[in-house]
Amino acid sequence: MFERRIAITALVFVLALVGVIGLSVKLFGIGLPTCLTDVRPFREGKVIEQAPKRYEIHYVARMWKFEPPDISMVPGSTADIYLSTADVTHGVQIVGTNFNLMAVPGAVNYSRVKFTKAGDYLVVCNEYCGAAHHNMAGIIHVTEKAAAPPPPAQPVLGGPELVEKYGCTACHSLDGTAQIGPTFKGLYESKRVLANGSTVIADDDYLRESIEKPDVKVVKGFEANMPSMAMPPADEQAIINYLKTLK
Ligand code: CUA
Repeated sequence: MFERRIAITALVFVLALVGVIGLSVKLFGIGLPTCLTDVRPFREGKVIEQAPKRYEIHYVARMWKFEPPDISMVPGSTADIYLSTADVTHGVQIVGTNFNLMAVPGAVNYSRVKFTKAGDYLVVCNEYCGAAHHNMAGIIHVTEKAAAPPPPAQPVLGGPELVEKYGCTACHSLDGTAQIGPTFKGLYESKRVLANGSTVIADDDYLRESIEKPDVKVVKGFEANMPSMAMPPADEQAIINYLKTLK
């Protein structure tokens, strides 16, 4: 008898909980975050306007920004946000909404947000993801006159993207571990001992030479098997500037 009362009480609580969740979904438009297993992780951010005030957003978190960085829509819009990461785990929060999802490597997470009120919604990263974590931010503009999406002007790639684009990170780690090549961490202005026993300081000139003619100064303990990297001078400089930040 006693057990039955306990069981019924437990059941009532469970049903009440389910009811509360159902009600909050219906009344307050609170979305339930979901991890999708049937959507492949993507690396390209985009906004698809499916209908007036209905958007599908492919949102990419990467060190250290969100893509697309800048999204506009009119008040009252509903956005289905699919979230992926291009590198490490990020925590993505849209301030002023209850959107708060992890961007996990290899997975796509989903949640729906309704932007009822006009305003600029800041998107921040709330999971430590490296040196510029604190700078990682995006913005969602909710305004009556939704501006046309910003023109995809020549995407200016930053250092983190460039070392990925040129495949540097296949052999050079960013975290201090030695792989096929020396790590990038702490490389800039460090003293390098070369295969021939001489030493050199890893300044701009050394790094430029090592990118263009990697065989000239090979660091002791590593094979001279890096290909010469041909790249525009601007990219080369951006990579060197990025190395300076990897302390
Ligand atoms: Cu991304 Cu912290």
